Amino acid sequence: MMEIVNGFSKFTKEQKISWLVDNYFNGDNNTAELLKSYWNTDEKLQKLHDEFIENTITNFYLPLGVAPNFIINRKNYTIPMVIEESSVVAAAANAAKFWAKRGGFSTKVLATEKIGNVHFMFQGAKEKLGQFIDKMQPIFRNRTADITQNMEKRGGGILTIDLIDKTHELPHYYQLHATFDTRDSMGANFINSCLEEFAHVLREHVVTEETFTTTEKESLQIVMSILSNYVPNCLVRAEVSCKINDLQSKEIDNPREFAEKFVQAVRIAEIEPYRAVTHNKGIMNGVDAVVLATGNDFRAIEAGVHAFAAKDGKYTSLSHAEIVGDEFRFWMDLPLALGTVGGLTNLHPMVKFSLELLNKPNANELMEIIAVAGLAQNFAAIKSLTTTGIQQGHMKMHLMNILNQLKATDSERQAVAIHFKEQTVSHRSVVDFVENLRK
Ligand code: MEV
Repeated sequence: MMEIVNGFSKFTKEQKISWLVDNYFNGDNNTAELLKSYWNTDEKLQKLHDEFIENTITNFYLPLGVAPNFIINRKNYTIPMVIEESSVVAAAANAAKFWAKRGGFSTKVLATEKIGNVHFMFQGAKEKLGQFIDKMQPIFRNRTADITQNMEKRGGGILTIDLIDKTHELPHYYQLHATFDTRDSMGANFINSCLEEFAHVLREHVVTEETFTTTEKESLQIVMSILSNYVPNCLVRAEVSCKINDLQSKEIDNPREFAEKFVQAVRIAEIEPYRAVTHNKGIMNGVDAVVLATGNDFRAIEAGVHAFAAKDGKYTSLSHAEIVGDEFRFWMDLPLALGTVGGLTNLHPMVKFSLELLNKPNANELMEIIAVAGLAQNFAAIKSLTTTGIQQGHMKMHLMNILNQLKATDSERQAVAIHFKEQTVSHRSVVDFVENLRK
């Protein structure tokens, strides 16, 4: 068995790579060369990336693509997307253009409240605890004044701090449930700092609270203080609508039939979790790609969105569609806690580029753009699924990956492009075709 390595994080980058090569790659220097070939030649830039995380050994590329022609609230956007899945940007661009000709997307931020909790245990009279928390309200705010000062200047801060009794679900368990407005920052550090200060206040003041008995005082145990990534009140709506007849296009020759089948497909996702998960995954193809490009935390977004999709006790579709008279409407409400200041936004050159491309949006505008990217992606997926099927578009895009695997030459690529214009793409058929060319 390999020995435990001590002090690994203190090794230089070269030493880390040597250690990996010796222990996992039989000392093969090609591995070291491969890793180094992904280093940026600009040392300063590389150092910046090295320092984002611990134990960086190299960079891991993902493509940054753009989807033009997004009309959102009558403004034209080109949306940056970071994603490895071949068909996503093409589908987004396709849906953007489709809706650009039909009035574009409209959006509305419905709420922007962030949440955090101090989770604690207390054994004693609930009423006395309630009165104690009431008494602590100004102290919570005084003690966090240093932290909240700047946020308040920007119009944000702590909104509410409530005591929640959870003892019916877990003996002795209470929460301080706090809500925040963090303006254009995602606010994780701000919220967590406030929460930890609330916890200090509780700990310090419980011992001098004369209404508590000694047993009550000693029973207080702070378990943890942390923001919640479940943000059902940080919500944005994105929607598209048009007259059914206006859905007519190159691919849609019977618009009413298309609209009805589309609505059925969404209904299926509303009632059937097996479908809802894949349906929502398609939405997240668009959402995550823009979340990543703009330096936001896609794990937080994913966790919050899926919790929201299950908020009524059953996992369901995030998007909805209806036909009212001769009007088709497709929409979605999405919880998105995002930042356009702080975090990576000012550090990562590609994040800065992406935000500039979007005309430096504030957090609310970014919520709107990202919700639209999700809705567009969902529209493109359902449109393909209910008409041609998904594989046609997917495999056309995947063709490039297959050709790269086969190390196809330019002339082979040309021959493949001509042949598969009319033919169904499958991995086997492309391999056979290229092998035939090479005979
Ligand atoms: C693939 O990444 C996403 C889809 O499966 C979404 C969907 O089925 O709606 C195409």
